[in-house]
Amino acid sequence: MADSCRSVDDARVAFQSCKSPDAKERVQFYDSWAENYEKDHSLMSYRAPDLAVNHLSDHFTGNPEQALVLDVACGSGWVAKEMLELGFRHFVGVDGSKSMLEQAAKTGLYQDLRLALLGTQPLPAQTDTFDVVIIVGALDAGFVPVGVVRELCHAAKPGGLVCMARGEHSGTPANQYKKDLERELQLMEEEGLWSPVGIKQTDRYMEDPHLSAERAKDMQEERYIRGSVYLYKRSIH
Ligand SMILES: C[S@@+](CC[C@H](N)C(=O)[O-])C[C@H]1O[C@@H](n2cnc3c(N)ncnc32)[C@H](O)[C@@H]1O
Repeated sequence: MADSCRSVDDARVAFQSCKSPDAKERVQFYDSWAENYEKDHSLMSYRAPDLAVNHLSDHFTGNPEQALVLDVACGSGWVAKEMLELGFRHFVGVDGSKSMLEQAAKTGLYQDLRLALLGTQPLPAQTDTFDVVIIVGALDAGFVPVGVVRELCHAAKPGGLVCMARGEHSGTPANQYKKDLERELQLMEEEGLWSPVGIKQTDRYMEDPHLSAERAKDMQEERYIRGSVYLYKRSIH
């Protein structure tokens, strides 16, 4: 059961104990975190679903009520809840954590929820099918490998949008992941698979969960990490 009395310090401890470089161990950690996931992320001022969905909505030209959305690494269903506010109604979710999928099921928003450890297992989604493919908070070292972005692109309909939001955590693996990701995004553009619609950057993606509570207390803007929302349109051919 979710712990309604959780504090910022509890949230920091949870984030700081979630650092295995192995994706399978990471999703096992999410299995144990599922019930407190949203509370802990709110305590850390996590704004990624809101930022991603607003950037998407600024560029989405279809009828949201008819759009089919693939929410990759859907977690507890936070992204679908934000999209619902903007009129989207049809969601399929994928995640590697069974317990996170159970939380997502409780929202009642998903027509289908699929369990898959991405990078190890293929994306369980038909190609050329979705009006929107969205992934928030999972493109990072030890989470969803860079190569999966090609699968996201293939799952989108020709002309569909792919929206990817990530935070810029510190450390060598995170820096290397960002370089590899941006190289792959560029390569896919050169191959004619998609074209960039716009990148939105923010100074306040969330509070840096890896700062100690003591340090965070004395900091203002520096206690937030930056983040980016990448939006691409799948090519029509
Ligand atoms: C920070 S949460 C983001 C959840 C949701 N998108 C949100 O913004 O609230 C990261 C999610 O990615 C999932 N995840 C991490 N690595 C994964 C992988 N390799 N395959 C599938 N899911 C993965 C975790 O289980 C977790 O639910």
